[in-house]
Amino acid sequence: MSKIEQTLSIIKPDAVERNLIDEIKNIYTKNNLAIKDSKKIHITKEEAAEFYKVHQSKPFYNDLCTYLSSSPIVVIILEGEDAVSKNRKIMGSTNPKDAEEKTIRKLYGISIDKNSVHGSDSVENAKKEIKFFFKN
Ligand code: CDP
Ligand code: MG
Repeated sequence: MSKIEQTLSIIKPDAVERNLIDEIKNIYTKNNLAIKDSKKIHITKEEAAEFYKVHQSKPFYNDLCTYLSSSPIVVIILEGEDAVSKNRKIMGSTNPKDAEEKTIRKLYGISIDKNSVHGSDSVENAKKEIKFFFKN
């Protein structure tokens, strides 16, 4: 059964730097994911570390936090039917090399770290992540 959900997308520094914000937003809306809220922000390394806390034991954690705080990002609340899994599908695999044709990461990703977008991986995490960036 499908249901209306919200999920968090982040357009990461590599994509913001290459002016891909509108292209990526278009992909969401074409796939019936409505943009409920969106803002461009530049987070601190401490905020990135808090956001990616789930990965704190991973070898890539420090670089990941440095990267996400290196220049502006765009955080977006997406809403639609099965938004969490739909967005994961639209994004493609973590490594752009493995991503399916026409996914955002296949189209725009540069490497496993500069993979252009973030997407929540569960409804529960989506709620937490949306709260993290959109507090009220
Ligand atoms: O973003 P996604 O949920 O697909 O992947 P993840 O496993 O939750 O990892 C979070 C982010 O860490 C990825 O999007 C990559 O940018 C980065 N990462 C990395 O730099 N090197 C890895 N070996 C794995 C992930
Ligand atoms: Mg993840």
